[in-house]
Amino acid sequence: MSKAPATAKAGRARTAYVCAECGTDHGKWQGQCAGCGAWNTLSEFVIEPAAKAAAGGGATRRAGWAGAVEAPKVTALKDVRHMEDARVSTGIGELDRVLGGGLVEGAVVLVGGDPGIGKSTLLLQAVARMAATLPALYVTGEESLGQVAGRAARLDLPLDGVHALAETGVETILEHAAAMRPKLIVADSVQTLWTESLTAAPGSVSQVRESAARLVRYAKETGTAVFLVGHVTKEGGIAGPRVLEHMVDAVLYFEGESGSRFRVLRAFKNRFGAVNELGVFAMGDKGLKEVPNPSAIFLSGGSTQQPGSCVMVTREGTRPLLVEVQALVDSSPLSNPRRVAVGLEGNRLAMLLAVLHRHGGVLVGDQDVFVNVVGGIRVQETAADLPVLLAVLSSLRDAPLPEKTIAFGEVGLSGEIRPVPNGEERLREAATHGFKRAIVPRANAPKSGALKGLEVIAVERLADAIDAL
Ligand code: TYD
Ligand code: MG
Repeated sequence: MSKAPATAKAGRARTAYVCAECGTDHGKWQGQCAGCGAWNTLSEFVIEPAAKAAAGGGATRRAGWAGAVEAPKVTALKDVRHMEDARVSTGIGELDRVLGGGLVEGAVVLVGGDPGIGKSTLLLQAVARMAATLPALYVTGEESLGQVAGRAARLDLPLDGVHALAETGVETILEHAAAMRPKLIVADSVQTLWTESLTAAPGSVSQVRESAARLVRYAKETGTAVFLVGHVTKEGGIAGPRVLEHMVDAVLYFEGESGSRFRVLRAFKNRFGAVNELGVFAMGDKGLKEVPNPSAIFLSGGSTQQPGSCVMVTREGTRPLLVEVQALVDSSPLSNPRRVAVGLEGNRLAMLLAVLHRHGGVLVGDQDVFVNVVGGIRVQETAADLPVLLAVLSSLRDAPLPEKTIAFGEVGLSGEIRPVPNGEERLREAATHGFKRAIVPRANAPKSGALKGLEVIAVERLADAIDAL
């Protein structure tokens, strides 16, 4: 019992139990995660002792990037030479927009989405366009090289400077990267990656997490930009989910409705830009095409208004977007009528219905209420409150809103209609698209004169809005 146990302890791998939902570490296995309360989400994860982990990442260090091996020291922050956010255009404007103006050197970007939504297509197109400036390595763990090449040929992509590798072992991938020194790596998908340093099965949370961590380390040491593709699980998280979100610089979700050819790329987290920016694409037979002016694509298209439909102007990122909110109100056979919100927050719908009852005098307590945002888009801002209530009211009364009408505004718990940011810009967008009438919060009504062709009905209370119909 002299020195031996101490050294043995320092060199031993520790076992941790990591929650697949929130990434909380636990010292021992337990049924429920102490972090998020989810059940049966812990899985075993061997944490390498520091010395061994460093040796594992050694392949990249040995390759000789100075700086990576410098011993850290305390420095006055104002003396630190700051990193230029040198951005490289991806060649796809809508992708640049979501990234915050282009791809930053050494950035790690996780692209999540349902299988088949077009993640591989998007990244292959981006890689092909960037390859002229950034030599790229496209690592595929899901498709054969033949399949990737076939897709590239079908899409007529220029492939000079694009290299591909069908491999899932992270160590091998990094060895090839160290030899080839690409400026961009795409790993499609992160769920197929595995590292030799863990015994857990490929696809398990610990493998996904450690493999991603290796790539992140490599990206930071070498300034290589990395795209990780991740599939979304049924629950809506990226498998091995939150843990990856913490590690990477940006998380982009690729979304779309089945049956619709439109796809929306949304930043969920971005260290280099705004998070509410949207990129819009259309999937066609030549791959993904940008939709640079998406304002009106989310309208259902019918010229005559249907009961239960209200058009709103939402603002996603830096541009306004016209979207249609639909509601269906139907007498319920249930003692607890259903409230279903698609593309909106469910709790908010319940709250709005309570306000409608209390301050609008409209009872929907015995009705099922379904609300949907057309086009598979998600509206997260409160400007949707008023349009939601107008759509509900319209469905309940089976009377369409007046033609060419838009609305936006936040509804408060005491029935007041509150202003939302950028009101004037929203009104201008509506006028541009030929809308004739706008029901908006009083504080959002233009102070000097009206917009041409657009009658603005300014409301202060929910009751005013109901009267305006
Ligand atoms: P893919 O990029 O493989 O999806 P992911 O990597 O997210 O799983 O996209 C596959 C879908 O896209 C598939 O259903 C076919 C469709 N698609 C087109 O419609 N046009 C095209 O030009 C391409 C390449 C794919
Ligand atoms: Mg794919």
